[in-house]
Amino acid sequence: MENFDSSYDKFFSSSMNDEEERFVTTSKTENDEVIENVLRPRTMAEYVGQSKVKENLKVYISAAKKRHEALDHVLLYGPPGLGKTTLASIIANELGSNFKQTSGPAIEKPSDLASILTNLNENDVLFIDEIHRLNHSIEEILYPAMEDHALDFVIGKGPSARSMRIALPNFTLVGATTKAGMITGPLRDRFGVICKLELYTNSELEQIVKRSAGILGAEIDGESTKLIASRCRGTPRIANRLLKRVRDFADVYEGGVINKDLTLHALSKMEIDDIGLDSIDRKMLKVMIENFKGKPVGLDTLGAITGEEVETIEDVYEPYLLQIGFIARTPRGRVPLEPAFKHLGYKLEDFIGR
Ligand SMILES: Nc1ncnc2c1ncn2[C@@H]1O[C@H](COP(=O)(O)OP(=O)(O)OP(=O)(O)O)[C@@H](O)[C@H]1O
Ligand SMILES: [Mg+2]
Repeated sequence: MENFDSSYDKFFSSSMNDEEERFVTTSKTENDEVIENVLRPRTMAEYVGQSKVKENLKVYISAAKKRHEALDHVLLYGPPGLGKTTLASIIANELGSNFKQTSGPAIEKPSDLASILTNLNENDVLFIDEIHRLNHSIEEILYPAMEDHALDFVIGKGPSARSMRIALPNFTLVGATTKAGMITGPLRDRFGVICKLELYTNSELEQIVKRSAGILGAEIDGESTKLIASRCRGTPRIANRLLKRVRDFADVYEGGVINKDLTLHALSKMEIDDIGLDSIDRKMLKVMIENFKGKPVGLDTLGAITGEEVETIEDVYEPYLLQIGFIARTPRGRVPLEPAFKHLGYKLEDFIGR
């Protein structure tokens, strides 16, 4: 074991360079795509947590099935990696319906949406990811489609133009967004069911890690499961990613068995601290405390300092830092709160009266 650390380092730096990915990023990387499909729950029973959302959906789904009707349109919102896409496909599965998937940015022209809609079958589930990115003219086609199951269009131009309506099958639209605030009022009003996904609790994340380890055939002890669950920022996608990285270490060094020492070592190599913050979170907080003395800082400034997109800061970093009470949103910008000072080893007193 004398070269344990240095060989770890070598292994690790090579795998880091290959991927150039942040480990705690909640957004999806190419690597995730493959593993996510393997680990994605297929039924409500397999879908851990979000109990309020699940309970409601189960009632609506069985009512719709009983009446042989399409389920009401469903809007799912919440930070990346919490299971919106997963839940959308489970809804279709539980309804016994076809699942058709597209996304806001993929629908470029009104005719793209028209062709998707006219190709639907009775009771199909149409999933539109990033629905806040639909452009306005396309959104307007969606209104009568959602409300009246109809597609309105105009034939010809000028005085001879005629408007036509064709009937669409009954279908369920499931929309997903990380930005509920960017959905227009008229679109939002047309969803009968609106569900907010929350960050997961540690015990839910432990269940997810255990389940994923089982599927991947990785042997993991209880302590390691707890460690990964407590450092994944309440997000299943990160839990699965950390598990996968730790498993890589285990495969190389411990004959595939994931134990506490190995997990701790792998996490420290990934620069993920005991509450799941990574180097960029810490840098951001440090700048807020040291350079801005805890005064409000605008998102643009934070983006410029960390070199991250404003959108990434809003979607990826903020939800967790807000949730654990490390920062607050104020009308003038973001401010660090006492637990953040403490975590980074600063004394709040030193900055009072700043
Ligand atoms: N409730 C859950 N139980 C078990 N695993 C889950 C759950 N939710 C999500 N996961 C896991 O996390 C992965 C990411 O989930 P998913 O792709 O559904 O997130 P998302 O909310 O659609 O993210 P994005 O906003 O980036 O599209 C899934 O592949 C799945 O393995
Ligand atoms: Mg998704």
